[in-house]
Amino acid sequence: MDQITRRKFLKIAGGITFLSLTPIGKGLFAAPEATTPLPLFTVIPYIQPGSASKLVDGQDTLVVAWQTESLPAQFEVRYGSGKLLDKTAKIVIGRRAIGGAGKAKAAAAPVEGGGSDYSNKRINYSAPLSSLKLNTKYRYQVVGNGQVIAEGYATTRKPRGTAIRFAAFGDNSNGDISDRMIAYHAYQSHPDFVMNTGDNVYESGLDNEYARNFFPVYNADIAALHDGAPLLRSVPFYTVLANHDVAGKGHSCLRKKGASIVSDIDPDDELQPCPVNCVFVNEAYADFQKNRDSLGYYTAMHLPRNGPKKSTFPTPIVGNVPDVIAEFMDCAGDRFPTQANYSFDYGDAHFLCLDSNEYVDPTDNTLQSWIEDDLSSTNALWKFVVFHHPPFNVGQEHYDAQHMRVLSPILEKHKVDIALHGHEHTYQRTYPIKFVPSDISNASATNSKNRRIPGTFTVDKDFDGVTNTRPDGVLYVVTGAGGKELYDPGFYKEPKNWLHEEDNNVAYVSKFYSEQHSLTIFDIDGKILSWKQITETGMVVDHVTVTKA
Ligand SMILES: [Fe+2]
Repeated sequence: MDQITRRKFLKIAGGITFLSLTPIGKGLFAAPEATTPLPLFTVIPYIQPGSASKLVDGQDTLVVAWQTESLPAQFEVRYGSGKLLDKTAKIVIGRRAIGGAGKAKAAAAPVEGGGSDYSNKRINYSAPLSSLKLNTKYRYQVVGNGQVIAEGYATTRKPRGTAIRFAAFGDNSNGDISDRMIAYHAYQSHPDFVMNTGDNVYESGLDNEYARNFFPVYNADIAALHDGAPLLRSVPFYTVLANHDVAGKGHSCLRKKGASIVSDIDPDDELQPCPVNCVFVNEAYADFQKNRDSLGYYTAMHLPRNGPKKSTFPTPIVGNVPDVIAEFMDCAGDRFPTQANYSFDYGDAHFLCLDSNEYVDPTDNTLQSWIEDDLSSTNALWKFVVFHHPPFNVGQEHYDAQHMRVLSPILEKHKVDIALHGHEHTYQRTYPIKFVPSDISNASATNSKNRRIPGTFTVDKDFDGVTNTRPDGVLYVVTGAGGKELYDPGFYKEPKNWLHEEDNNVAYVSKFYSEQHSLTIFDIDGKILSWKQITETGMVVDHVTVTKA
C-alpha cells in the first residue's frame, strides 16, 4: 500500500503544497536542521488581503506573512501566477515585544556593541505582493536561509459580475474547541475570503494570543472538526477592530492626567496596592505597560488602508513604556491607526468596515463624511457595512451599546443591504429596518455604559427571505457565535423575550439562535444574495434569500 508522505498529506489539506515546519509544542514550529539554522517560527506563513481596496486588474494585493523568534535570518518570498515563481517580493521586518509586563524593563536595556536587543522580541515578517491580476491564482514560496520553508497558493479578488462566497463569524479565538469547529465548517464551505465581525482573539488582542489562539486554529495543518482548518494559508481574512482586540476585562490602575490616561502600576509588582488617586477608568484603551504585545490587530493583520486621511478616533494607547510603544508603532507602520476603518470590493459587493469601539463618537462629522463618500462612490450591486457593536439586538449582554444606530439613516440613504455585527455571542437577524433617531446625545457619550439611542422604527414584516425576498430597509445580522461561550442559551426559543420597552416593544428581530456556535456562509450571484447560518455540528438554522429587481 502506498504510504502517504507529509507532502502529499499537506497537498490535500489546503492551499499549501509544502510545509517543512514541524510543530514542537507551545505554539512553536521548527525548520529542519541546516548549516545555517533558522529560528523557531511562532506563526507559520499565512495570507492577508493587503492594502488594495477598489477592484483594479493589475493592481490587486496579497501579503504573505509569518513570525519567528528573535534570531535573525535571511528570508525570501518568490511568487508567480504561472508555473514559474518568477517574481521576488520585498520583505518587511517589524519587531514586537513578547507579552508579560515584567519584561518591560529588560526590553529597554542597552545591548553591548549596539543594535537591538532581540531577547524579548519576536520578528514579524511580511512580503507584500502587489500589481496582481484579479481572479488569478498565485503560487508563493517562502525561503529561509536558503531552505524552502513553505509553498502555497492564494487567489486574488474576483471582479464585478463574478459569483462569490464568503464566511462570516466573530467573537472567536479563545482557545476553545468551538473555535476549531467553526474554522472547520468555514473551510468546508470553500469561501473566497473570511469576514470576521470583531473580537478576533481573546482576551485582549495580544500578539501572543494571536500566536496561541488564532493562527493554530485557522491555519491548522489539517481540516478536522476538532483541529481547525488550513484556511489562512490560501484564504484572505478580513476583520474589524472590536473591544477585545483593544483590551480585555478587568480593572487597571489608571488615573487621568489632564486629557490623557496614565498607568500608575509597577508592572513588576502584581501585589502593589492601587495608588490612592487610582480610579476605575471604564474606557477601551491599549495599556502597553500591562501588555507589551497589545494591539496585534495592527501588526498581524494587513488590511486596506483607505480610511479617513486623518484618523478620527485612534485607538487610545497608555503606558509608561515609550520604547515598547515606539517598536509597536514601527511594526504597525501606516496601519496604525488607519486600519481601524477601511473598505474593499469583492465581486459584486462592497464592504465598509468600521471601528465601533467605546471611544468612537459616530456622530462625528469627519467620520460621517468619510462614510457617506465611501458609500456613495461605489457602484457595487450589494453593499455591506461591518462593525462589531450591533445597533439593533435584543440580547441581554450588550443591549445598551446602541451608539452606531445614529448611522442608520446614512445606511438607508445609500441603500446598504446588510449590516454585519458581533459582540453578542449569538445569531440574530432583524426584519428590514428603517430607523429615525429621536435623541442622539448618548452616541457622543464615548466610554459611557449607557449609549442608548431612542427613535422610531419602520419594520418590513412582509419580508421573510423565502417567498418575499425584497427587503424594504436594512437587514442587521449579528453573527457573533464564532467560538467564545454563548450568550442567552435557551433565549432563542422565546420570541416574547425579544422585546424592549425602551424600543416601544417593537418586534424587530426575526430570528434568534443561541443553542450552538455558528457561522454565516454568504453567496452572491448577480442579483441574488443568500446566506445560511450553520452550526458547529453542521445544522442549517437559518436560510435567507434577498433579491434585486
Ligand atoms: Fe465584543
